[in-house]
Amino acid sequence: MNDLDSLVQQARADFAAAADSTALDVAKSRFLGKSGAVTQQLKSLGQLAADERRTAGARINAAKSEIEALLEARREALRDALLAAQLAAESLDVTLPGRGADKGGLHPVSRTLERIETLFRSIGFDVADGPEIESDFFNFTALNTPENHPARSMHDTFYLEGDDDVLLRTHTSPVQVRTMRAHVAAYGDRAHMPEIRVIMPGRVYRVDSDATHSPMFHQVEGLWVGENISFADLKGVIGDFLRKFFESDDLQVRFRPSFFPFTEPSAEIDVAFMHGEMKGRWLEIAGCGMVHPNVLRHGGIDPERYTGFAFGMGPDRLTMLRYGINDLRLFFEGDLRFLSQFR
Ligand code: DAH
Repeated sequence: MNDLDSLVQQARADFAAAADSTALDVAKSRFLGKSGAVTQQLKSLGQLAADERRTAGARINAAKSEIEALLEARREALRDALLAAQLAAESLDVTLPGRGADKGGLHPVSRTLERIETLFRSIGFDVADGPEIESDFFNFTALNTPENHPARSMHDTFYLEGDDDVLLRTHTSPVQVRTMRAHVAAYGDRAHMPEIRVIMPGRVYRVDSDATHSPMFHQVEGLWVGENISFADLKGVIGDFLRKFFESDDLQVRFRPSFFPFTEPSAEIDVAFMHGEMKGRWLEIAGCGMVHPNVLRHGGIDPERYTGFAFGMGPDRLTMLRYGINDLRLFFEGDLRFLSQFR
C-alpha cells in the first residue's frame, strides 16, 4: 500500500520535472513501460494467493490509473506551455506603424534623357532609336569615316568576335543614316519631302574607362534636314535647348571649330555658367556641324536640294553638370546610397 502511494508520488514528481514531451516519455516508461515500476507490480501478482491477488490487483490498477491521469495532465500542460511560447514568439503588434514600401525613382541619367526628349519634342522633334549592335557600314562608312580613321581601330571599338563588320556602335550617329533612309522610304516620292527633325538617344560603347570615361555611356544625336537649314538654325536650336536644360538664361554657349568626318563645317559646343562652382569655366558638351553631303547621299537624300545640321551630345556629362557629380562611374555602379539621392 505504502509502496503504491509513494510510487504515485514519485510519478507525480517525475512528471512535473519533465520539461518537454521527450523527457515526459522517458519518465512514463519508468512507471508504465514494459519493465516499469507499475508493470513490475502487476507481474508480481502471480506470486500471491488468489484472494490477496484480487485486492492487490485492484489497488495496483487504481495506482496505474492515477499515474496515467497524472501523465495525461502533464502532457496537456506541456502542450499548452509550448503553444503559449509559440504565440508569444510570433506575436504581432498590429498597432505598430507599417514599414512602408520603399519608393523607387528614375536614374539621374534617365531623368536627363526624359528632359532632353521633352525639350526637343516641344520644338517639333521626334525621338528615334537604332541598334546598339551595328554594322561597320552604318557606324563608319556611311558617315564618311575613312578606312584608316583611328576610331575604327581595335583599341577604340568593341568588335564582335569572328566578324569584322559587326561592332558595338561607338556613337549614335549611325542612327542618322538609318533615319534618313526610313524617312526617304516613307516620304521620298513627294514633291516636298517633309523635314527630318529627330533626336536619337541611346547607349554607345568604346574601349575606355576612367573617372570621366566608361566603356558604355550615353549619347543623344540630333538631326534636322530640310530645304534651307543652316548653321544659324543649329546655333539657335542648341543655344535655346541648353539654356532651358540648365534653367539658366545667362548660360554662355560657344561653337569652337573642330573636325568630324560626317559634318562640314564642324564644331564643338562648349558651355560656361555665370554662377556657382563652375563659374567661368568652358566645358565641352557636344559635337555638331552641317551634315556632310556624302552622309546625306548615303541616306538617300539629294545634297543639292537639302541641307541639315547634326549634333551629338553626352547626356551623362550634362547630368554631371546639372547635379554637380564629378565621377561618371557613379552612374553605372548601381550603388543605392548614390542613386537614392535622386528619388
Ligand atoms: N559622333 C560624334 C562622337 O561620338 C559626336 C558628333 C559630332 C555627332 C558631330 C554629330 C556631329 O552628329 O555633327 O564623337
